[in-house]
Amino acid sequence: MSPNLSKVISEKELHKRIKEMGETLTDKFKNSSVLAVCVLKGSFIFFADLIRLIECDMNCEFLSTSSYGNNSHSSGEVKVTMDINSSVQGRHVLLVEDIIDTGLTMSYLQKMFEIRKPKSITTVTLLHKPEAKKVECKIDLVGFKIPNDFVVGYGLDYQNQYRHLPYIARLENLN
Ligand code: IMP
Ligand code: MG
Repeated sequence: MSPNLSKVISEKELHKRIKEMGETLTDKFKNSSVLAVCVLKGSFIFFADLIRLIECDMNCEFLSTSSYGNNSHSSGEVKVTMDINSSVQGRHVLLVEDIIDTGLTMSYLQKMFEIRKPKSITTVTLLHKPEAKKVECKIDLVGFKIPNDFVVGYGLDYQNQYRHLPYIARLENLN
């Protein structure tokens, strides 16, 4: 059976919530200089929309992680396949994730950034699956809490497909 898409968060709901998140982060950072870090690939659309709604001094950086390969389940092993270029020491770091599932990626990244002596680390995720948690990680701002289903769209993929969808959909009939 081929996978079936069922919309769970509309384009309108995404934009409304991301606007609120931008306001919250503007309040937090309006007098600061921020190093905003996009965790590729899944966060690229969320990151692009969110940073345009945060009014503060900002530098943008990109890093890439992989833990899923071509599967819909985490391999449990996090790899940083591309790191950022800027120094983190003494900076306010804003880590932007698409989704926190087991928490493995975010907990790994938080430890990696802590060692680099930032002034602060703020963690933001568009989606959070609380039921899938395997390890603790600090999450400062969540867009939407969702059930433990595999979702795609708005940057999130399954086997590198569906990233371009403007909404979030549940992927059903996965093998
Ligand atoms: P975690 O390490 O298990 O928290 O998962 C982190 C990464 O796995 C996310 O940044 C996503 O790239 C990917 N991921 C987790 N759940 C999903 C999902 O439902 N759809 C697409 N990607 C997912
Ligand atoms: Mg991600």
